[in-house]
Amino acid sequence: MISQKEYKSRRKSLAKRLSVNSVGVLYSAKYKTRSNDTEYPYRQESNFYYLTGFKEDNASLVFVKTKASVKTFLFVQKKDEALELWNGKRLGAKEAKKEFDVDAVYTSDEFPQKIEEFLKDKHGLYFDLNSQDERITTLKEHAKTLKSHKDIMSEIANMRLIKSPAEIMMIQKALEITQEAHHKAMKLQKAGKKEYELQAEIEYIFKKNGAYSDAYTSIVACANAANTLHYVENNKPLLDGELILIDAGCEYDYYASDITRTIPVNGRFSKAQRELYEMVLDVELQIIKMVKPKVKRSELQTKAVKLLCKGMLRLGILKGSLEKNIKKEKYKKYYPHGIGHWMGIDVHDQCPYKYENGDEIPLMNGMVLTIEPGIYIDKDDKKVPKKYRGIGIRIEDDILVTKNGYENLSMRIAKTVKEIQRFS
Ligand code: GLY
Ligand code: MN
Ligand code: MN
Repeated sequence: MISQKEYKSRRKSLAKRLSVNSVGVLYSAKYKTRSNDTEYPYRQESNFYYLTGFKEDNASLVFVKTKASVKTFLFVQKKDEALELWNGKRLGAKEAKKEFDVDAVYTSDEFPQKIEEFLKDKHGLYFDLNSQDERITTLKEHAKTLKSHKDIMSEIANMRLIKSPAEIMMIQKALEITQEAHHKAMKLQKAGKKEYELQAEIEYIFKKNGAYSDAYTSIVACANAANTLHYVENNKPLLDGELILIDAGCEYDYYASDITRTIPVNGRFSKAQRELYEMVLDVELQIIKMVKPKVKRSELQTKAVKLLCKGMLRLGILKGSLEKNIKKEKYKKYYPHGIGHWMGIDVHDQCPYKYENGDEIPLMNGMVLTIEPGIYIDKDDKKVPKKYRGIGIRIEDDILVTKNGYENLSMRIAKTVKEIQRFS
């Protein structure tokens, strides 16, 4: 749990970043239509959640900063018995004021009038500059006369780069559940089952443990399907003698986990599978070891490319010199993605990779990122030794940057050949 005290201190940090004589506005997420009159399960907008912990829709958060003070206001949907009969209880303004330590709580229908008041004599307005939401269009109308429009999301994105101890605990909790799910999949995989059966087992463990949802659509890809990076059909049978790539992580109370394991159907790696697997694993371990403050993600990427190229040359997947393969990006056919990304409230956390001047942001104590090298060899790739064709491998862990190095938050999820084979 993130305490209300922490949410308040986040609001305080954001307020410090706003210029004097300005107003900042954030809106809650809207329900998204799935089809006709059915909706996807509601999920609060990440930045709104980061600043409030408030999970209802039809809400907004407003900062009003003058030379003398900063005031924070929450707008919530007003109590409505008829609506609540269908859609569940709402907190309402009075209760929200008790729960959320803001200067005042109003109902959302008071917003248009209040915002006019707040904007009087102000110079700047912060909001989500990239939003297509019609609420923003109305807001812009209100703010036509203001000198400057600035992006509130990029200010929050910068704050989200560093995770607090409470946030790290949330990620650890998500990972405990994800660990159980991956181990269950290792135990239950069997030739003849369908990929979606394993997906169901994994997501059952998520739900059983109170994880709201998966943090992204689970990938359960057997054999050549693993070579489609965003394969989500998960509808093929598990084939004896093949590998299954499972990229699945739960979201626990708004915090993500993102884990990939690649395991053999029926529990035994073949010689060729093992050669490739241990090559990728060795790269993953070496890159994780590089994680510490001041190192740049691009350095991790460069090193991963070099190590993967070396491995692919050794195994006869690439030919020629190391330098040429790197320079001509020959590896991209087999390793087309990045080495990792920030992770937090969003699986691909909405935090910058560069400062405003274009310089890369180095790793810092309290950041969380994934490390996820992979190798993908299509079944019809005649340039590669036959024994490796149709194999796709990715190994992904979630890493916390610490003061002197790193902590692998997912280190207890089975990963070596021996550990994985123990499950069958
Ligand atoms: N599961 C999404 C990713 O690995 O980036
Ligand atoms: Mn990832
Ligand atoms: Mn992943």
